[in-house]
Amino acid sequence: MPDRKKFVYLPKAKNDFVVIGRGAAGSPEQEPPRAPGSRVVRPKKRSFAVDQSVTLAGVRLKNPVVVASGTFGFGREYGEFYDLSELGGICCKGLTLHRREGNPPPRIAETPMGILNSVGLQNPGVDAFIAHELPELRRHDLAVIANISGNTPEEYGIMCEKLSDAGVDLIEVNISCPNVKAGGLAYGTRPELAAEVTSVAKAHAGKTPVMVKLSPNVTDITEIARAVAGAGADALSLINTLRGMRIDVNTRRPILKMNTGGLSGPAVLPVAVRMVWEVHNALPGMPILGMGGVAKGEDAAQLMLAGASAVAVGTACFADPYAPIRVRDGLAEIAQRQGLDKVSALTGAVKPW
Ligand SMILES: Cc1cc2nc3c(=O)[nH]c(=O)nc-3n(C[C@H](O)[C@H](O)[C@H](O)COP(=O)(O)O)c2cc1C
Repeated sequence: MPDRKKFVYLPKAKNDFVVIGRGAAGSPEQEPPRAPGSRVVRPKKRSFAVDQSVTLAGVRLKNPVVVASGTFGFGREYGEFYDLSELGGICCKGLTLHRREGNPPPRIAETPMGILNSVGLQNPGVDAFIAHELPELRRHDLAVIANISGNTPEEYGIMCEKLSDAGVDLIEVNISCPNVKAGGLAYGTRPELAAEVTSVAKAHAGKTPVMVKLSPNVTDITEIARAVAGAGADALSLINTLRGMRIDVNTRRPILKMNTGGLSGPAVLPVAVRMVWEVHNALPGMPILGMGGVAKGEDAAQLMLAGASAVAVGTACFADPYAPIRVRDGLAEIAQRQGLDKVSALTGAVKPW
C-alpha cells in the first residue's frame, strides 16, 4: 500500500480515486516545496522580458500553455487555485453528442512514470456544456478549446455546428480515444476515416478553426497527419495516450476494469517529442499543439523545439494544480536565458544532427 501521507489526492469524477505518487511526474521541479499542512504551494509571481504570446490556427494565446483535455474538466475545480486567465487556453473534457457516464471503475491506475486511464469520455453532453460550462469559462480571459468525440462522422458534424454557433475559439476533434468502443481510435488509425471525419467537421464548423488530435497508437503518424491536413485541418494536436495494461499478479486480474487503458505522464514525453518532430518535418506549415508528459518548462521547450506552436499540460495537473503555471514560467525563463525576445522563436528550432 502506498504511504497515503505522501500522496496528493485529486477528488475528480465520483467513481475515481486518483492517487499520483510524489515524483510520479518525474522531475525535481515537479516537486515544489510544501508549506507545513498544505498540499501544494502557489508559485511566486514572476515577470519576464520575453513576449509569451503565440498563435495557434489563427487563435492568439497570451502564452503557449494550455491544459490538456480530460485532465482539467471544465476548469471549475482548478479555478479554486488560481484565475484561469493565467492560462493560454483550456482544452475542455471530451464532449459527445449525448451525456456519457464513462467506463466502470477502477479506471485510473498508477504506473512508475505516469498513469493509465480508461475513463471513457464521461461528460455531460455538448448541449449541457454550451448551457452551463461555456458561460462560466467566458468569464475568464483564455482561449476555449472544445474537444469532441463522435460515434459517426455525422455526430462530429452536429457538434461542430453547435459549438461554432456557441462561439468557442477552436474545436479539437478527438479521433484518438483508446477507451471507447465505437468511433474513437478507429478513426485515428485509418487515414481515410480520419480524413472523412476532418472534412465533415470542417464543413460544419463555420469560421471556427478545427484542430485534429492524433493518436500515437499507429506505425507512421505522418500518414494520418497528411490525411487530415489534406482534408482541411487547421491545426494538429498530439499525442493522445498510448495503449497500455497493468496486471495484479496475485489476483491475475488487470487493474483496470476495461483491462487496458491509455498511458500518459512523463513516460510518454520522448514519444511525443519524436512524433511532433516527425509531423512538423512532414508538414512544416501546420500549427501543432504538442502534449504528452509535460511537467516543467524544459519539457515544453523540447516539444516547441521539435515543432509545436503551443503545448498542453495534462497528467502533471493531477499531482500539482499549478503545473501549467510552472511550465509557463519555466518556458519563458528558458527563452529569456537563451536571449530570445519571444517564446515562439523556439518553435521548430531544434538542430538535428
Ligand atoms: C484521465 C484522462 C482523461 C483524458 N480524457 C481525454 C479526452 O476526453 N479527450 C482527449 O482528446 N484526450 C483525453 N486525454 C488525453 C490527454 O488530453 C493528453 O493527450 C494525454 O494525457 C497526454 O498528455 P499528458 O501526458 O500531459 O497527460 C485524457 C487523459 C487523461 C490522463
